[in-house]
Amino acid sequence: MPLSQIVFYSRNLVKLTGGSMRDMVRDILASCSRYDRASGMTGALVFNEDFFLQAMEGEASTISEQLWTLAADSRHSGMVLVSAAPVQQRSLGGWTVGYAGRSEALNALYLQYGPTAKFDPTEMSATSIIALLRAFTELDASHFVQRSGQPGIVPMKPVAP
Ligand SMILES: Cc1cc2nc3c(=O)[nH]c(=O)nc-3n(C[C@H](O)[C@H](O)[C@H](O)COP(=O)(O)O)c2cc1C
Repeated sequence: MPLSQIVFYSRNLVKLTGGSMRDMVRDILASCSRYDRASGMTGALVFNEDFFLQAMEGEASTISEQLWTLAADSRHSGMVLVSAAPVQQRSLGGWTVGYAGRSEALNALYLQYGPTAKFDPTEMSATSIIALLRAFTELDASHFVQRSGQPGIVPMKPVAP
């Protein structure tokens, strides 16, 4: 079966305190990892207090099936499909979940891919969104990035704007 990549963003409905965010990341990453092993899907999810932004790669039928589950998840709403396209090969290995906080380095990253130094997928092109997601997968854990297969959960806390 040919590989496809799908990218979407949605509104985050989770009130992000330090604890709830940690729980949410652990929960979603655990689901992704479980699902990944079973279905061969890989991807990246980046979020802040306002948005989720996600890319998934795998078989088109598997991705479509998973989208129905995601759409019904009460932790978010208003899913917007940014792109859905066949790909030659995967660009995301495993699963990465990252918190799109504010820091000098992250603000520079947002400015590199969007019109402002803010994480706001509604203001970004599909190409920039995918590039930003990939850039997040290359950040280290000090940027609140967690990868599947890593032991433990990186301490996460919301960062003031
Ligand atoms: C924004 C968002 C993205 C998610 N992405 C995934 C995903 O890519 N893969 C996945 O298995 N679950 C994902 N989840 C969790 C699913 O909605 C759902 O809770 C999970 O598939 C249930 O799986 P489980 O029964 O194995 O826990 C996501 C949840 C949210 C809020």
